[in-house]
Amino acid sequence: MSLEQKVVVVTGATSGIGAASCVEFAKRGASIVLVARRQDKLEEMEKTMSGFGIKTLACKCDVSEKTQVQKMGQQTLDKFGRIDVLVNNAGFAIYGPVSELTIEQIEAQMNTNYFGMVYCTKYFLPKMLEQNSGHIVNVASVAASFGLPGIASYCASKSAMLGFSEGLRHELHGTKVGVTVVSPIMVKTNFFDHASLKKIPKYSPTALSAQTVAKAVVSAATSSRLEIIVPSVVRGAVWAKHTFPFIINPIIGNAFRRRIEKTGTLEKHS
Ligand SMILES: NC(=O)c1ccc[n+]([C@@H]2O[C@H](COP(=O)([O-])OP(=O)(O)OC[C@H]3O[C@@H](n4cnc5c(N)ncnc54)[C@H](OP(=O)(O)O)[C@@H]3O)[C@@H](O)[C@H]2O)c1
Repeated sequence: MSLEQKVVVVTGATSGIGAASCVEFAKRGASIVLVARRQDKLEEMEKTMSGFGIKTLACKCDVSEKTQVQKMGQQTLDKFGRIDVLVNNAGFAIYGPVSELTIEQIEAQMNTNYFGMVYCTKYFLPKMLEQNSGHIVNVASVAASFGLPGIASYCASKSAMLGFSEGLRHELHGTKVGVTVVSPIMVKTNFFDHASLKKIPKYSPTALSAQTVAKAVVSAATSSRLEIIVPSVVRGAVWAKHTFPFIINPIIGNAFRRRIEKTGTLEKHS
């Protein structure tokens, strides 16, 4: 699929799924707006992108801050005059039982994962509607469909993304603006470097590569589906959970609870 002349905004572009998605979009000739907080990493990504001979714009922006998102949006439209694909990917998790997490830690996850997506969507949606074209790709997680002990607040932020996306998609019916959620299972990225996640096994050997998920993100940009679960076989687990919750929920609950018991009381992490 060629994406030449298309303008793609990717949040969380400096690492993992976001960085790999930028590479996949760049290979297809798109112009890319790189969005993240770390200036040095943005500059590294800009260098990587220059190898593809495409146009780029690097915006240092914390998506949990409305005013920074507005500035990034303005810079994007000033430079390119349009937006074709918005990938809301920036996100993180803080591991710990609700009884031990602070309210600020729970808010922080919601502010980046959910409200960051809302701020970017609210900024770019009017332009997409004016153009009568565009696609919003929201990177949620399989955790959007499960309430897991140890990451309850992360699951809540991802469920919120899924619910928002589904409602918005219905609202956009009849326009040429689409919304698709990409929900991966475990992916080998720096996501697991957060201090709170140090006590649990980093990721299993079967974890996906960021590139696999990035390819799903590119497909999502032209998809008519609400949710793409990666890998697709995991759809079966989501179906089973909704169809037989009385069987599946206790199994999942016990497995994840045992992990909390093993890791013991958590230290405080910001
Ligand atoms: N890894 C997994 O197993 C997995 C599974 C399912 C879903 N996901 C989801 O996939 C997305 C990408 O995660 P990843 O695995 O690629 O993790 P990652 O390697 O840690 O990358 C996270 C990216 O988000 C950026 N970011 C974090 N907070 C931000 C903020 N407030 N404003 C702007 N940028 C911010 C980071 O850049 P800066 O630090 O430079 O800002 C980084 O580029 C997340 O939404 C995550 O929830 C991950």
